[in-house]
Amino acid sequence: MEPRLCVIPGDGIGQEVVPVAVQVLRTVLPEVRYERAEAGWECFRSRGVAVPPETLDAVRRCGAALFGATASPGRVVPGYRSAILTLRQQLGLYANIRPAASTAGFSPRTGVDLVVVRENTEDLYVGRETRSGDVAVAERVISATASRRIARVALRIADTRGAKKLTIVHKANVLPVTDGLFRDSVREVVAGWDGPSAGIEVEETYVDVAALRMVGAPESFDVVVTTNLFGDILSDAAAHWSGGLGVAPSLNLGDGVAIAEPVHGSAPDIAGTGAANPAAAILSVAMLLEHVWERPDLARRVTHAVGSALAGGVHPPVLSSVRDTVLHLLESSDGGTS
Ligand code: IPM
Ligand code: MN
Repeated sequence: MEPRLCVIPGDGIGQEVVPVAVQVLRTVLPEVRYERAEAGWECFRSRGVAVPPETLDAVRRCGAALFGATASPGRVVPGYRSAILTLRQQLGLYANIRPAASTAGFSPRTGVDLVVVRENTEDLYVGRETRSGDVAVAERVISATASRRIARVALRIADTRGAKKLTIVHKANVLPVTDGLFRDSVREVVAGWDGPSAGIEVEETYVDVAALRMVGAPESFDVVVTTNLFGDILSDAAAHWSGGLGVAPSLNLGDGVAIAEPVHGSAPDIAGTGAANPAAAILSVAMLLEHVWERPDLARRVTHAVGSALAGGVHPPVLSSVRDTVLHLLESSDGGTS
């Protein structure tokens, strides 16, 4: 059966970077079939729902989606919740895989090659907040099931990598019940792991120490596994080392369904100007090629072409310059591999 992709541009620059990523995908894998769907703030404004049921159906039917970005109102709007959070929760996309790697000649530092594996369904993201007078409370949910599940994803990824090192990040000194459960569940999976390669080096660190290391010694990380909010924060810090959010991809992964998503937002300040960098969206499609469609060869070609385009000085790295250079590299006789 042909691979299928549900295309959800969403808001702001999502409308610009997603078509570029699709164009790149058409070049390397012409047999993909496409469906288009709506989600986001504009969708909420026009239809009263940020993620219509038919969008959920379309993603389930395709098994893979590319989501551009969603704007947020920045205030409480009754009935509105960020579309991407709804998609993650409704589709059970329990793992958020966020790689950050340096590109020589582009990134602020060489030698960084890490991936943050972020639990994607619980923690403070369960959205249970209450307020009573001058006190507001947010519930933080951690379950053994979700913690074990994310540990298995992280170990599977560590198994495929050269360094094979796993860092478990938590804050069990202050949160011994919740983060203690996360840490113990990950430890349990690590202890029983019989993946293809034995000998994954495992370490643990508190999230504050991890933040310091992410700033001062990012090359000391390989695979980082952590809870939802810590992963949200650490993955943005990690993205700095690859060259910023303009080049940071991610994959929201569940069982039989996945949504690729550039980490950046809808960037209303530059939307419509052509200044958006489509690299993150293109690299997110490469993650679908690797993790969903089992074409690591094509994923490498695309990643390599983006790296060459950035390193080769597409200045500034904006929509048309990155698109044209990447397409040119992929269409040239060596397929962008040199
Ligand atoms: C991300 C974003 C989202 C998150 C926002 C937009 C809800 O920051 O994908 O990292 O916090 O998960
Ligand atoms: Mn974030």
